[in-house]
Amino acid sequence: MKVLIADKFEKAGQEKLQALGCNVTLDADLSGESLRDAVRDSECQVLVVRSTKVTPEIIEAAGHLEVIIRAGAGYDTIDTAAAKARNIRVCNCPGKNSVAVAELVMGMILTLDRRIVDNTVDLRNGVWAKKQYSKARGLKGRTLGVVGLGRIGYEVARRAASFDMNLIYSDVIEQKEMEQELGIRKVSFDQLLAEADFITLHVPGGEKTKHMMSEAQFARMKPTAFVINCSRGGVLDQKALAKAVEDGQIAGAGLDVYEMEPLVTDKEFKDPVVHTRNVYGTHHIGASTEQAQLAVADEVVRIIETKMKGQEPPNCVNL
Ligand code: MLT
Repeated sequence: MKVLIADKFEKAGQEKLQALGCNVTLDADLSGESLRDAVRDSECQVLVVRSTKVTPEIIEAAGHLEVIIRAGAGYDTIDTAAAKARNIRVCNCPGKNSVAVAELVMGMILTLDRRIVDNTVDLRNGVWAKKQYSKARGLKGRTLGVVGLGRIGYEVARRAASFDMNLIYSDVIEQKEMEQELGIRKVSFDQLLAEADFITLHVPGGEKTKHMMSEAQFARMKPTAFVINCSRGGVLDQKALAKAVEDGQIAGAGLDVYEMEPLVTDKEFKDPVVHTRNVYGTHHIGASTEQAQLAVADEVVRIIETKMKGQEPPNCVNL
């Protein structure tokens, strides 16, 4: 089976694919036209991507392609409808990086409460400001609002419970088992906005969730509350966020994802949102731990191995 990997991918996963007898080509710099040409010329049956976008033009040019695998949970970077029209399966790797994302969210909660980043920057600039940094509110008894209690939301809630945080969630699905296990309470989205001290977003990207956090939602939040977005950039209106933080409507934000994200190969990022005071950004690294990437690579191998056995590949999201 010919497999084209157009992104970074764990070496262990590549070796496992080769051991299965796959002909593996890896080129992490492919995108747009170069990816279209590579997919066509390599005659690959399987395309594996992480951040790289798979457009209708690429799918149109892919004469032999049978499966596109997103080495991650979300698949908003792949045109699933165009793939469906050509009977190409799109499969993802759900749940394999949930813990990694949850760990980053916990890091953000602590960073926001204790202003760890500003502390470090001041110290590096030779400034000692103990008094200024001695005003954290603390986490015990504070309310964490989880928007979307799926796999990642659950892992965040579990960790926050061990910090004795009060847990609420909003979701279209009622998660009775999780409610019992974690003592997390279901509330309406509006109620969550008004009650939470920290709001963490764990919903898929796309039209349905676009700007679900915008001017009106920030206006409902407490002035001491923070919002964290480690889901998809489009879920949160960045302009409205910057204004809400600057106007003191909310206390700040932690962002791992952005409305316009650069390609992996790009070296610059000019989004003004990360220059907003009390907005702390990371480089879409939620899923990027060694543990998570190894687990994702194993899932990619499992999907391809199943396909090679002539069986239906698991985690198909479009057919
Ligand atoms: C995901 O959808 O799971 C993440 O965006 C994956 C990643 O960053 O590679």
